Amino acid sequence: DKSISHRVAIFSALSQGPSDIIGFLQSEDCINTLRALESLGVESVMNSEGEVHLVGTGGLFSEPANPLDCGNSGTGMRLLAGLVAGQPFPVEMRGDDSLQKRPMDRICLPLERMGCQFKFLSRKGFAPFVVTGGALKGIDYDLSVASAQVKSCILIAGLFAEGETVVHESRPTRDHTERLLRVLDVPIEVNGLSIRMEGVGVEGLDVEGTEWYVPGDFSSAAYWIAVVAAREGRLVRLQNVGLNPRRIALLDVLERMGANVEVELISKKDVAEPYGDITIRGTLLKGTDVGAHEVPNLIDELPLVAVLGALAEGETRICDAGELRVKESDRISTVIKNLTVFGVDVEEKEDGMIIRGPAGLDSPAVVHSYGDHRVAMAMAALASYSAGPTTVCNIACTETSYPGFWGDLMHMGATVEFIENSGCY
Ligand code: S3P
Repeated sequence: DKSISHRVAIFSALSQGPSDIIGFLQSEDCINTLRALESLGVESVMNSEGEVHLVGTGGLFSEPANPLDCGNSGTGMRLLAGLVAGQPFPVEMRGDDSLQKRPMDRICLPLERMGCQFKFLSRKGFAPFVVTGGALKGIDYDLSVASAQVKSCILIAGLFAEGETVVHESRPTRDHTERLLRVLDVPIEVNGLSIRMEGVGVEGLDVEGTEWYVPGDFSSAAYWIAVVAAREGRLVRLQNVGLNPRRIALLDVLERMGANVEVELISKKDVAEPYGDITIRGTLLKGTDVGAHEVPNLIDELPLVAVLGALAEGETRICDAGELRVKESDRISTVIKNLTVFGVDVEEKEDGMIIRGPAGLDSPAVVHSYGDHRVAMAMAALASYSAGPTTVCNIACTETSYPGFWGDLMHMGATVEFIENSGCY
């Protein structure tokens, strides 16, 4: 899992001494977080089985010689910003073109209130920037966007602050940070949508490194769920998938659409996150509505909900999902452009879209990733249902979250041919 791998790397770095991470996702995003931690003086080695051995510094880091490059990862940048905000030296943070277009004011405002300074090197509120931290004070903060990244950034900074930090969520978002902090015995109190934590100040956390198990990524499993969900009589079983209740709203959506979903939970003591096996049986789907109460719990799966909507009978409405416009691409716009190429009847809304299915899907199509891994993979899932050949342009971005995606697509039965220099961007 990508979200858990970022966090486990950061919490291992904050601990004293060695930690082992089993199942670390070796994707570009997570590897960039490991590299950033290395620049801060944290040694790590990774083997080909996805195990990472990391030696934590107990929260005392060294000033990096070069900027921290978070690549494509909003999670990496926002969580690491929380960490460097607590360090008494300046750190420059940058990312790729997509990341440098994504709003950072959502973390800068609370971190500045806690006592650190941001200097923007290009555009106010956006990377690249220099964070100069140290001597933070705890904060009582209302999250204006339902964002686990912002919540986690504040909680990580809160660890280094004097006094109490309280974060109030507007909607429940993924709670990986809270769960992992509990494993480390950091006193953290969750009361409804409020999370309260006592900071330890500049000297850093006094916790020992440990062994972590990272389950498979539900957001990656979701592509195979979608590839099967609308095929009557087909079945797929996915093993050892993370089943954090705040990540799996797609399964509820699929049940409403008519698919048959079975979940077998594996509970292991000492493992912070629930995980298990998912079996999905395909059927003729019907449209459904997805709105505010579900959006944070399937935010990364919304391109796939649009794909499922294109396959389903009737209308599928995605509302209250304006956050999609500030992901790795403007996912409302990029998904709609691609669906239109496939001949899908789709209407754009400011905060979502309405899809009217089922689409014919019988012609050749040329679609674009727009540099966004989830757009590329969602369109590949839709392509698997098309009678015509589909070209997905600019697919290297899938490495950020799912190395091996195209091989797995072939494993699912699709014919995939790689074309170089096809004139696509
Ligand atoms: C993530 C939270 C989500 C999600 C992202 C990973 C995380 O972002 O889209 O892929 O690991 O906390 P927001 O919390 O900003 O919505």
